[in-house]
Amino acid sequence: MTQTAAHLAPGAKDAICEALNQSVAETAITTMLAQNFHWNVTGMAFGPLHDLFQKIYEDHFTAQDDLAERIKALGGHAEGQLARMLDRSKVSEHDGHASDTDMIAAMVSAQDTLAATLAGTAAIAEEHGDLLTQDMAIARGQVHEKFAWLLRAHLG
Ligand SMILES: [Fe+2]
Repeated sequence: MTQTAAHLAPGAKDAICEALNQSVAETAITTMLAQNFHWNVTGMAFGPLHDLFQKIYEDHFTAQDDLAERIKALGGHAEGQLARMLDRSKVSEHDGHASDTDMIAAMVSAQDTLAATLAGTAAIAEEHGDLLTQDMAIARGQVHEKFAWLLRAHLG
C-alpha cells in the first residue's frame, strides 16, 4: 500500500529519515571530497578533471539540500553536523595529496558507495510504501552511477 508523508506511521518515518540522513552525510562528505580534488588535482588532464570534479560538487551540494529537505517534509530531523556526518559516512575524507588517477579511483569508490546507500534508501522507502522518497533515492542513485562511469572512463 502506498503512503504519503501525512500518513506514514512514526516508525516508518524514523526508518526512512535514518536512511536519508545516511545519504545526506555521504553526499556532503563527497561534496567536500570533490571540491578538494577540484583544487588539488594535477597532471595532463588537469582541465577536464578540474571541471568534472566541479560538476560533481555542484550536483552534490544541491542534492544534499534536496535529501535533507525530504527529511523535513517527512517530519524528521536533518542532521547538519559535519562531525556526525563523518562518523557515520562510509565515504572517507582525503588529504588531497594524490596522483590524478588515484583521485579518480577514490572518487569512483565514493560514487559507488553513494549509489549503494541510495539504493538501500530506496528499498527502505519502498518497504514502507513511500514511493515519493523511493523515487528521489532512485534518481540520486542513478546520478552516482553515471558519475562513476564518467570517472572510470578516464582510467581506460
Ligand atoms: Fe573552482
